[in-house]
Amino acid sequence: MKFGLLGFPVKHSISPWIHEQFMKKTGIAGTYELFETRPESLEERIKSWRKEEIDGFNVTIPFKQDIVPFLDKVEEEAKQIGAVNTVVNQNGEWKGYNTDGRGYYRSLVGSFPDLVPELSSVLLIGAGGAARGIYHVLVREGFQRVDITNRTLEKASRLVREEDENKKTTVLSLKQAEGNLSNYDVVIQTTSVGMEPSTEEIPISLDNLKRGTIVSDIVYKPLTTRFLTEGKKRGGVIHQGHAMLLYQAQYAFEIWTGKEAPLDSVLQQLEYRLRGN
Ligand code: ATR
Repeated sequence: MKFGLLGFPVKHSISPWIHEQFMKKTGIAGTYELFETRPESLEERIKSWRKEEIDGFNVTIPFKQDIVPFLDKVEEEAKQIGAVNTVVNQNGEWKGYNTDGRGYYRSLVGSFPDLVPELSSVLLIGAGGAARGIYHVLVREGFQRVDITNRTLEKASRLVREEDENKKTTVLSLKQAEGNLSNYDVVIQTTSVGMEPSTEEIPISLDNLKRGTIVSDIVYKPLTTRFLTEGKKRGGVIHQGHAMLLYQAQYAFEIWTGKEAPLDSVLQQLEYRLRGN
């Protein structure tokens, strides 16, 4: 079978390694290649794939929204989210899914099984493709409130307009979020800020963090971002991004092959690799 990752840049992605583990464990012969594609070449890439018969692919920055017009069908959840990270070729028809939100949520409850959504308020930092999936799932799971802060306020407002029927969300500027930080039980960082090579960057100051707050970052390179280090210093309980990466990949693999890949030690091995061992 032939799989791949569409995005820019993707050169350093660890997804091929993850999918190779899944293929090995399920006895599927195949390849997972990186298809680094500049935005101006997206259409050309899609056309050549249509001829080559790819079985499925993942979509990452900056194409999670741009891919939609090229698909024949989009699954309901991905439609509501407005972003696609997984595409499957079903007898020549391409169908889009979103496994980011599901993957993130599983990683969160995996680490914090006692978290009670109805009693927990969340601050989401960012309003891009990844934030869309996570926001959708958090609202669906019934969190007490899910506020959003983003550098570009209009982007956060647009996301809320499309999603929040329950009026559980306030949009805050980055400064307002910093000031109100002690109101939250969970703070989730979904932007690319702090990712290698800009590891000194942090999207908001965590000075006002309440002790015991869950501080979560979806960036997994580095495994412990500056955001998490600062969170820990202020009494936060940290949650790293690699488990989301693994679970969204596992859901994608299941969509492509109909097989659930056993994870066994893959999470630990992934952590080991990301530590640079
Ligand atoms: P992804 O699919 O990974 O979510 P994206 O859709 O390009 O990527 O979204 C990137 C997110 O990171 C956005 O919330 C973006 O903020 P803007 O909406 O203001 O662009 C945020 N982001 C990226 N670089 C940033 C920076 N230097 N400071 C603050 N936010 C940043």
